[in-house]
Amino acid sequence: MRKVIEGLKEAAGIFKGERPVFINRAFRKLFALKEGSDFSLSELFFPLPNDPGLFEAQRLKPLEPVINLSGLLLPFGKDQNLVILWEKEEGAWLREERLAAMGKLAGEIAHEINNPLGGILLYSNLLKEDLPPESPLHTHVEKIIKLATRCRIIAKALLNFGRPEDVHKEPLNLNSLLKEMYELVSDYRILRRVKPYWQLQPDLPPVEAVRPQLEQVVLNLIINAGEAMEGQGEIHFKTGQTETEVFFEIRDTGPGIPEDLLPLIFEPFFTTKKSGKGTGLGLSICHGIVRQHGGRIEVRNVKPQGAAFRVFLPLKTYED
Ligand SMILES: Nc1ncnc2c1ncn2[C@@H]1O[C@H](COP(=O)(O)OP(=O)(O)OP(=O)(O)O)[C@@H](O)[C@H]1O
Ligand SMILES: [Mg+2]
Repeated sequence: MRKVIEGLKEAAGIFKGERPVFINRAFRKLFALKEGSDFSLSELFFPLPNDPGLFEAQRLKPLEPVINLSGLLLPFGKDQNLVILWEKEEGAWLREERLAAMGKLAGEIAHEINNPLGGILLYSNLLKEDLPPESPLHTHVEKIIKLATRCRIIAKALLNFGRPEDVHKEPLNLNSLLKEMYELVSDYRILRRVKPYWQLQPDLPPVEAVRPQLEQVVLNLIINAGEAMEGQGEIHFKTGQTETEVFFEIRDTGPGIPEDLLPLIFEPFFTTKKSGKGTGLGLSICHGIVRQHGGRIEVRNVKPQGAAFRVFLPLKTYED
């Protein structure tokens, strides 16, 4: 029976009261528990079911993100219960809506803070110049400048959630776009020992796009790939088309993305980099831009290792 429970895709376990007798891998994953760790069910989700049968609850651990759960409680032998839990489907469209709303909000906040930040930087630089060279206050002022500069970088990145109406669209060839963007950054330290492979469809139809925006999508994806591989590995570029779409794919041979993080990577500020390193905005900006172009972006882990990001854009039709 344990074997069956272990094999379940859903989080499942046998409990005596609130204490675990046995839990499967999916259960540990859902609540970020280490193997063999002790806990009681009320630390993990709320409310606990009173009676056998289906129930709904909210995940308490880990704290973020809050996840709505569906569950099933079944009596299992003497004094024991079998508990099975799964994520209550949020629905892909809802997630899209949420991402779009967050992106918009982020862009608006950036507008608001960009100017005052410029002022902070200006005045702290003036202050620095006016300080006597031996002043112990130099370290404080430099900290202000450093931190304000970091905020500025974030604000600048957020401004990329710009409005599409006031920008110019032009026909773009994705094959040359990929080549140009790779050329541009292939000398970066993070890509110097990365080998590129090309599988580009000849005569690929052009897409209608805002060039600087699409350039940014490609650059973000290339740099993420380089970072994921810590500067060593292969990067595979591919283009192609379906009946209604043109696509490009950027695939790396890095560690890939843990399955439980896949739903999070497009959210603004989600990053696994050490604090102070990444803004976590790269992919949410890509997502926003692709969406504004009427396209979509897909990610998957590939065998034997690596992640592949595929961006689909609408094929320009003759009626357009
Ligand atoms: N090619 C990849 N392979 C593995 N993980 C990736 C890859 N691309 C993105 N990720 C994961 O997605 C997270 C979010 O990426 P995103 O580009 O939005 O932010 P970031 O790269 O962390 O920060 P920034 O783009 O500001 O440098 C990364 O921190 C990383 O965990
Ligand atoms: Mg990034």
